[in-house]
Amino acid sequence: MTIVPINDLSRWDNSERDRIDGRIQAVVKSGHFMLGSNTKELESQLSRRLDGMNVMCVGNGTDALAVSILGLGLKAGDKIATVANAGGYATGAILRLGCIPILIDVDPDTTQMAPISLSAAIVQHPDIKAVIVTHLYGLMADITAISTITKEKKILLIEDCAQAIGASTDRREAGSWGDASTFSFYPTKNLGCLGDGGAVAFRDAVHYASGRRVAQYGWSERYVISDMNGFNSRLDEIQASVLLERIQTLQSNNDKRRAIVRQYADALPASHKMIWRDDASYVGHLAIVVGPSRAHIQQVLDAHEVGHGIHYPLTDNSQPAWQEVFVDASVPNCDQLATQIVTIPCFPSMTDAEIAQVCTALAAL
Ligand SMILES: Cc1ncc(COP(=O)(O)O)c(C=O)c1O
Repeated sequence: MTIVPINDLSRWDNSERDRIDGRIQAVVKSGHFMLGSNTKELESQLSRRLDGMNVMCVGNGTDALAVSILGLGLKAGDKIATVANAGGYATGAILRLGCIPILIDVDPDTTQMAPISLSAAIVQHPDIKAVIVTHLYGLMADITAISTITKEKKILLIEDCAQAIGASTDRREAGSWGDASTFSFYPTKNLGCLGDGGAVAFRDAVHYASGRRVAQYGWSERYVISDMNGFNSRLDEIQASVLLERIQTLQSNNDKRRAIVRQYADALPASHKMIWRDDASYVGHLAIVVGPSRAHIQQVLDAHEVGHGIHYPLTDNSQPAWQEVFVDASVPNCDQLATQIVTIPCFPSMTDAEIAQVCTALAAL
């Protein structure tokens, strides 16, 4: 038996690698490395998926969050609600821009933002200006309920789709429900490039224009800085060309990921559960097991040579850098889940033998 890895990006489909090589060579030959036709084409393909939203590519998913906040016109001191169990990416962006994060608890069954907790937070902080909802692990949050709340309360809605590209609810893709949405193309993501990459989508053309300025030095035109918050965040043409190749297999790879987790769910004893749904609202970014004893799950996985991890071991309110920010935070479900969750292997190039090895381990829990 060999160890089943959590992920393995060195496993290439040779024909895909040849096609990607061809695309990269074409960019190299063109001499056009930034803001060219590949990036434009990727933006328009993403826009078509996202109900015609205005899409701009940026350097990574973290910048995408910052650009979304600034593009929507949010200012230092504005309150932005987000969950505490999603790796701290949204909270980090909120804090970096001088905004105030309000932590929302999650539904313990889905691990996603609980609409009821969002409503309670809005009662407590009627001046919340925006919500960042992360579709965590590739599972869509209850976006119908959350978008109903934000519309009714006239609060801006940002969807962090870094882990959920291609997921949909009622045939509407993650990222097309809010005022803005953000994506990461980090190599391990469901749509990954060969380095860093990201994108932001804005519903409103004025917000989009503002986001464009922010991500290009604050320029309104070449060398004219009209936005105080400008920095530089762009996707390069080589990465865009890789993504144009890979976006063609996004759906089939998402289906493979979900099929793997379906086998895990079938193998698991009733004492444990997978965080997933057997429909298009889950795209299997991460396979998460929850059970009464994490140590037991880890022991059994080790005994069966199955790799594992934790996403994420610390909630935002437990991060050392943010201790003073969150003295009053109350997110008991996030805190509890952080002690229970275990991530197990899930990637499209897993072999049947590897999937069977994981299933045997799960059946032994
Ligand atoms: C939910 C979520 N948001 C944001 C990010 C940040 O993306 P990036 O690593 O491209 O900056 C990640 C990536 O790790 C993520 O998982």
